[in-house]
Amino acid sequence: MNITPDMKMADVLFHNYTLLPVVSRFNIKLGFGDKTVSEVCRNSDVNLDFFLEITNSYVDEDYIPQKELNTFPVSLIVQYLKKTHQYYLEEKIPEIERNIQRVLDAEKTINDKFSLVENFFTEYKQELTNHINREEANVHPYVLEIEAAAIKNEINKSLHSKIRKYSINDFASEHDNVEEKLFDLKNIIIKYLPPCNSSGLCNSILIELFRLEKDLNAHANLEDKVLIPKVAAMEEKLLALYKA
Ligand SMILES: [Fe+2]
Ligand SMILES: [Fe+2]
Repeated sequence: MNITPDMKMADVLFHNYTLLPVVSRFNIKLGFGDKTVSEVCRNSDVNLDFFLEITNSYVDEDYIPQKELNTFPVSLIVQYLKKTHQYYLEEKIPEIERNIQRVLDAEKTINDKFSLVENFFTEYKQELTNHINREEANVHPYVLEIEAAAIKNEINKSLHSKIRKYSINDFASEHDNVEEKLFDLKNIIIKYLPPCNSSGLCNSILIELFRLEKDLNAHANLEDKVLIPKVAAMEEKLLALYKA
């Protein structure tokens, strides 16, 4: 069932609790009463169409965008991507780390293999941090510059050589898949580690890993299937303009 403007926001969350972090990324706070999605977005200064496209594609992987995410400004997409990065590094990763530490404390003598999970996750955190830093330091400023030039319909020499040197498609070909490693980690815990005595905590770690993987997947789709093609089309237009 698609999320529509007239649905009550509370009902949307009752049916799709995995949207809770997504809604927070839009700076929308709980306590909706009976307000509809459209009312909540208006009160929180959120672009309704963008909210609908993001939430619908999040809950349904087969969702076909109604109004094409491509119509939204790059700056709006970048703002959302940044919020998501922040959620990973400041909330999700520390939460999983805390649970891993709890298991380690509880199982010290009986399950020394669990430290494998800790090492694996520390490496993963570093990899994800590097991935995010690179996007925020290089890719986001670049795509905003491309959008600003496309709006003005102007390209100068320096931007021209920037595109020639490293275009968004170069980034696309190097954009690595950070979700895959999480699958490996779940696999280790489910299949190969000795049974965990603190099974409640182990299950929480697994559930959080499943959720993080789903969220990262949606995030990568937004980068690969929406942002990159949109910027590539703008680059192409700008390059043609330079020749003219
Ligand atoms: Fe990202
Ligand atoms: Fe990425």
